Amino acid sequence: IGSVKKGCDFFVKRPWDITLKLCWFLYADLEQDGFSKNPFFHAIIAEVPEQHKSKEGHTKIGYALYFYSYSTWSGRSVYMEDLYVMPEFRGKGIGKALMSKLCVAAGCKQLKFNVLDKNYSAVDFYQRQGCVNITTTIGYHCMRCEGEELQNLAQH
Ligand SMILES: CC(C)(COP(=O)(O)OP(=O)(O)OC[C@H]1O[C@@H](n2cnc3c(N)ncnc32)[C@H](O)[C@@H]1OP(=O)(O)O)[C@@H](O)C(=O)NCCC(=O)NCCS
Repeated sequence: IGSVKKGCDFFVKRPWDITLKLCWFLYADLEQDGFSKNPFFHAIIAEVPEQHKSKEGHTKIGYALYFYSYSTWSGRSVYMEDLYVMPEFRGKGIGKALMSKLCVAAGCKQLKFNVLDKNYSAVDFYQRQGCVNITTTIGYHCMRCEGEELQNLAQH
């Protein structure tokens, strides 16, 4: 949970990100949602030995957070909600290893995730892993409903 919060702090600082400020009030729910009998999400944590801890003293230096989904085209699918590696540990293969472990752990036929178009370095990183932008290739758009609109929808 502490690592996740750290990741959220980082994202919130990014000016082009408006969605992840939600983390501030999601934080209170994370423990319940991730560690209950039927967890809503799973996480893989990257940890380094004590002698390689971060400048701030962290040994948990990255994570991938995911949950299961289903495609009527492909079958079992996994959705990667977050992938994060602390800045001082980047470029060492940790992000790639987290994604790889996630794919093995999930045992699914398809990995899905979203990335902001202005997060150029992450887009490059994902393309390097063989991921495809399905907005440009097949015209899929990412949509959501929340807040008042979601409440209105639920009342119908
Ligand atoms: C994206 C992120 C997880 C990558 O993690 P990382 O540990 O630095 O990446 P790795 O060291 O595992 O890199 C794996 C490969 O991607 C390449 N790569 C890494 N960052 C890259 C970049 N910015 N541009 C292009 N290629 C990149 C590496 O060269 C390496 O290539 P190789 O397999 O051919 O050697 C990390 O930069 C991060 O946490 N960024 C901030 C959070 C974020 O934006 N997450 C994505 C939100 S959707």
